[in-house]
Amino acid sequence: MTRLRDKVAVVFGGARGIGLATVKEFLAEGATVYASDIREPAEEIDGYRHSTVDATDESQVDAFVREVIAEQGRIDVLFNNVGIHLGKPLADTTLAEFDNIFALNVRAAFLGTRAVLPHMIERTAGSIVTTSSNGGVMGRPGDPVYNATKHALVGMMKSVAVAHAHQGIRANTVNPGAIDTDMLRGTLASAEEFEAKQHQLVASTPAARVGEAWEVAKAVVFLASDESRFVNGVVLPIDGAKAAGAMPGNRYSLDFELGVR
Ligand SMILES: NC(=O)c1ccc[n+]([C@@H]2O[C@H](COP(=O)([O-])OP(=O)(O)OC[C@H]3O[C@@H](n4cnc5c(N)ncnc54)[C@H](O)[C@@H]3O)[C@@H](O)[C@H]2O)c1
Repeated sequence: MTRLRDKVAVVFGGARGIGLATVKEFLAEGATVYASDIREPAEEIDGYRHSTVDATDESQVDAFVREVIAEQGRIDVLFNNVGIHLGKPLADTTLAEFDNIFALNVRAAFLGTRAVLPHMIERTAGSIVTTSSNGGVMGRPGDPVYNATKHALVGMMKSVAVAHAHQGIRANTVNPGAIDTDMLRGTLASAEEFEAKQHQLVASTPAARVGEAWEVAKAVVFLASDESRFVNGVVLPIDGAKAAGAMPGNRYSLDFELGVR
């Protein structure tokens, strides 16, 4: 498959989960891929460069982007995927936790986007895709500050789209629902807790299942490719219809039977 043939793609947060799945899909579609993460990749894959970059560090982000441009002469695709979760009621969230999650989730996408924008403006071409969440378009009771960061990313990408569409630049978000990754599992204390939580996630997802990382990656490929060349400033849910509307009461009742509030 060659939907990204001749494209140079930069990925922030590419070592595991949705990021790593996207690296694989980008490679399968013929892209030249420069991935980065604060950690080493969870799997060894041939055919791309992985660099250790803290996406919240201005000088590291700028240097990484400069290096790709120096080697390849261009960047066609930016995928801002770095994120951490915070599953706490607002009243229990400390100021340090609030500052930390904004300094990671929002700052990383800001730095990545700012680093590539002048180059994309000069070339009058480029696709920026940022991972938000279905918590970026709807309220959820369990993770209000995380959701605030994900709403911020939607606002940032829409604004970049409006500001730079006339210069050939696109900026869109993918908004996953519950996806089976380390993040989803890592927020839970044990395998038993994950099993119990899965019932809740399934009950609140019209598709009645959690998603897989590759299902998000396929949507990122679409937004990165020229197939979506007139798609700009959109929020693309990949969530089994979770953000599309309220579930019937009988499905919610499953949560209550399980004692999950
Ligand atoms: N899994 C889900 O259910 C879900 C749902 C909605 C949105 N998301 C979003 O998807 C994105 C990817 O999450 P995931 O589920 O694949 O989780 P993940 O934890 O597997 O991936 C997050 C990646 O970000 C990297 N990272 C964290 N801090 C970093 C830093 N300072 N610099 C560079 N890299 C850093 C991690 O090392 C990791 O590789 C996140 O933005 C997350 O908020 C996930």
